[in-house]
Amino acid sequence: MRRKLRKIRKIRKIRKIRKIRKIRKIRKIRKIRKIRKPGKRLKRTNIVLSGKRGSRISDKWAKTKVLRANPMLRRHIPLTKRMTKVSLRTMLLKFGMVYIKPNRGSQGHGVMKVERIIAGKTGRKKSFVYQLDEKRSDFSNYESAYRSILRDTKGKPYLVQKGIHLIKHSGRPFDTRLVVQRAPHGGWEATGTISRVAHPRKIVTNGSQGGTIYPTAFLLGSHANTAKRIALMKKMDSIGVKTAKRLRQAYPGIMEIGVDFALDSKLKPWILEVNTHPDHCPFALLSDQSMLRKIIRYGKAYGRTYRMNCLKAKQGLLPERSTGRLPAPPHMRTGKR
Ligand SMILES: Nc1ncnc2c1ncn2[C@@H]1O[C@H](COP(=O)(O)OP(=O)(O)O)[C@@H](O)[C@H]1O
Ligand SMILES: [Mg+2]
Repeated sequence: MRRKLRKIRKIRKIRKIRKIRKIRKIRKIRKIRKIRKPGKRLKRTNIVLSGKRGSRISDKWAKTKVLRANPMLRRHIPLTKRMTKVSLRTMLLKFGMVYIKPNRGSQGHGVMKVERIIAGKTGRKKSFVYQLDEKRSDFSNYESAYRSILRDTKGKPYLVQKGIHLIKHSGRPFDTRLVVQRAPHGGWEATGTISRVAHPRKIVTNGSQGGTIYPTAFLLGSHANTAKRIALMKKMDSIGVKTAKRLRQAYPGIMEIGVDFALDSKLKPWILEVNTHPDHCPFALLSDQSMLRKIIRYGKAYGRTYRMNCLKAKQGLLPERSTGRLPAPPHMRTGKR
């Protein structure tokens, strides 16, 4: 009888232990699932996992550091620092003109152009000028300029970046947006390029800030002959693909990027920033829709969805009729990269 009782107790104990182990296992699985929940921010990497759409990284500083670790890409990134009173001053003394931008900004909001202007015969008269939106402010000394800038940053962390003197179209600066995507058959491919001419009174080119969208080939046409233009566009494609590969090493969820390129007077491409959730709408404003179609086809293959009411949106302006129809350059049409 005693023996039987002991046996029963033993069985009950084993069952209890198994039950506890099972509960612990379930809890562990739940915890992992919770971490992977779409939209949850992972603190260490600054990644926002947004379900099927892949990762969105808004931290410009983190992305810049990742890209600058690659020696080839480093040559195409303007010197960038976290903005402090000292770093802004140092960069202004070094470059004369810098851009400052919110670390987690978008659509050109809060971006400012800051200049140190030296005037007078002796070069003694110095002033500091900065522009935010359409407002220009002028100061005779750095202290007061910085105080005002700081008010305009509204307490947000900012970056300071060497200013690039963009090439112009009809007297207005423009830059280039290149979209690079994961191809359905594997690898990365540059799938679209547009250029954005700044609003006449603004220092940013973003479509949402009154920038005008043009085919890149059209705008480069007045700065380079055909051979040079094609070579330059290929160069931007190759930098774009390298950028995507490098970013994916640090952020494995990335499926697409939008690189903002500035071109200086020597037509050197500079990476101003990399977007990890690029907007397709500027491509909808071109008369040639082949790049838009490709971008959407590739995006849908990795689960991105697109709203198609681009023309109704306030952002962006239709390209001027004078731009005419320009097919995508041959290297953009096909090919796996
Ligand atoms: N270093 C720079 N030199 C010249 N222009 C710049 C520079 N940085 C930004 N800009 C201008 O400001 C715009 C917005 O800056 P960007 O870094 O792309 O931030 P956002 O995320 O707000 O688009 C760019 O498209 C470009 O026109
Ligand atoms: Mg941008």
